[in-house]
Amino acid sequence: TTVRISDDALALACGADAVAAAFAAAGCTVERVSSWGMHWLEPLAEIDGAGFGPLQPADVPAVLTGTSDKGIGPIADHPFIASQQRFTFARAGKTRPLSLEDYAAHGGWAGLARSREMGPEATIAEVMASGLRGRGGAGFPAAIKWTTVAKAPATPKYIVCNADEGDSGTFADRMVMEGDPFMLIEGMAIAAHAVGAAKGYVYIRSEYPHAIAKMQAAAQAARPHIAPFEVEVRVGAGAYVCGEETSLLNSLEGKRGEVRAKPPLPALEGLFGQPTVVNNVLTLAAVPWILANGGTAYADVGFGRSKGTMPIQIAGNVKYGGLYEVGFGITLGELVEVVGGGTASGRPVRAVQVGGPLGAYHPPADFHLPFDYESFAAADGLIGHAGLTVFDDSVDMSAQARFAMQFCAAESCGKCTPCRLGSTRGVEVIDRIRARQGRSADAVESLPQIHNAKKRARGLADEIALLEDLCETMKFGSLCALGGFTPYPVLSALRRFPEDFGAVSADAE
Ligand code: NAI
Ligand code: SF4
Repeated sequence: TTVRISDDALALACGADAVAAAFAAAGCTVERVSSWGMHWLEPLAEIDGAGFGPLQPADVPAVLTGTSDKGIGPIADHPFIASQQRFTFARAGKTRPLSLEDYAAHGGWAGLARSREMGPEATIAEVMASGLRGRGGAGFPAAIKWTTVAKAPATPKYIVCNADEGDSGTFADRMVMEGDPFMLIEGMAIAAHAVGAAKGYVYIRSEYPHAIAKMQAAAQAARPHIAPFEVEVRVGAGAYVCGEETSLLNSLEGKRGEVRAKPPLPALEGLFGQPTVVNNVLTLAAVPWILANGGTAYADVGFGRSKGTMPIQIAGNVKYGGLYEVGFGITLGELVEVVGGGTASGRPVRAVQVGGPLGAYHPPADFHLPFDYESFAAADGLIGHAGLTVFDDSVDMSAQARFAMQFCAAESCGKCTPCRLGSTRGVEVIDRIRARQGRSADAVESLPQIHNAKKRARGLADEIALLEDLCETMKFGSLCALGGFTPYPVLSALRRFPEDFGAVSADAE
């Protein structure tokens, strides 16, 4: 019997190695494959297409004798999988991540071959036709960025893959690198061919040791397929802000990971001052499919100006968490209530943070929103890197707002004042607001400001006005998205959940 079990970091954390060993000890041939992305079922074993999970080593005999109650039937027919449109994750669960043979047998290298056949200009035209936008969060059209680099006169040029996936609750980049690393390398090779770059770097956060190991091995194994282009893996040092493209470039150059002012755009003066494509993992990973199947086939899926599919990451207090790739336009409510099955705790959903720690908190009143760049922007939010973190009704939203400010203070690169100082002042203002409600008695004791009689006398309405003012300053006065976007979680918490800030009683004051 051949048993397929993932060796993805999440599966490993859930005990996949022990389950694999138990199958091997029972005489089975075990193949370690990529993860299907159904996290609540890991470790998930597949035998002749049928799935069993979540398994423990003790479950193995029952699985092999056909008496297990952990069977989920054919994996491909499971509603979580069957309802997806998997372009980027088409091979998920099906191939051994570092097998060149599996990769080629499942459509690998077809995009690069076609790109080489049609030449650089037609390659960019194909990506333009696909409507592919930057999947790191900003949604800037990939083909326009590539055109800027292609037309830049200076050489050499570089491809930099941003794999510093720092958003809480996101894991799609990690799953690509651990599950289908050759796809990312192929995407980088296509980008290199399109813009005329000879060297590429993958900048991976240090917190992803499995992804680092797989990408290093894959870059080595893929050499003959991508030559003369070369890919090198570089490892970050744990700073969230190094996911911002200019601080990432500084870090790659061996400098302190501090944000650079734009312009100049990295497309013109990027790595070592040379024209550089900086794209997120998911952007580059979408490219092989687009080249192999055609830009219009990609653009046929999606919603409005958001073309194609998005690998959405469902996490937090949710029943069925995992990787869900689907065309833009699915509603937030469908994602949370139907796909995600509501909260894991069984309590009502109170808030969903969309787009990582810098994304807005949305109440169920927003569940009608179609998942696309424009709809979320119009609702004072953002889809970012498409991470959803679900919270039930036990969440304290002023504590979440405080967390956002504190996160910004901890991760600020220190270059500009609104972010460096504003975030710390923001924590203090929120602490004072919370102290009025008895939400953080400890914080009151620890804050010298609260002992200042004048400040203590300040009304709640004034404190809230001060917080809003501070957020405006951070939003418009910060150099990068860290300081500039921290107001999204803070203001959404304040405006959509005012009761957690005591704002109802504010009227009485
Ligand atoms: P941005 O809007 O400044 O730029 C987007 C991209 O387009 C950049 O790469 C920029 O260099 C490029 N660009 C702009 N004009 C261009 C032109 N004319 N030619 C060529 N290239 C051009 O946004 P930024 O600051 O790079 O990213 C902000 C986003 O990052 C936010 O929307 C947020 O959602 C996301 N984000 C993602 C995180 C993650 O973990 N993936 C974490 C934090 C934020
Ligand atoms: Fe640095 Fe914050 Fe300014 Fe960004 S907003 S450049 S992280 S200080």
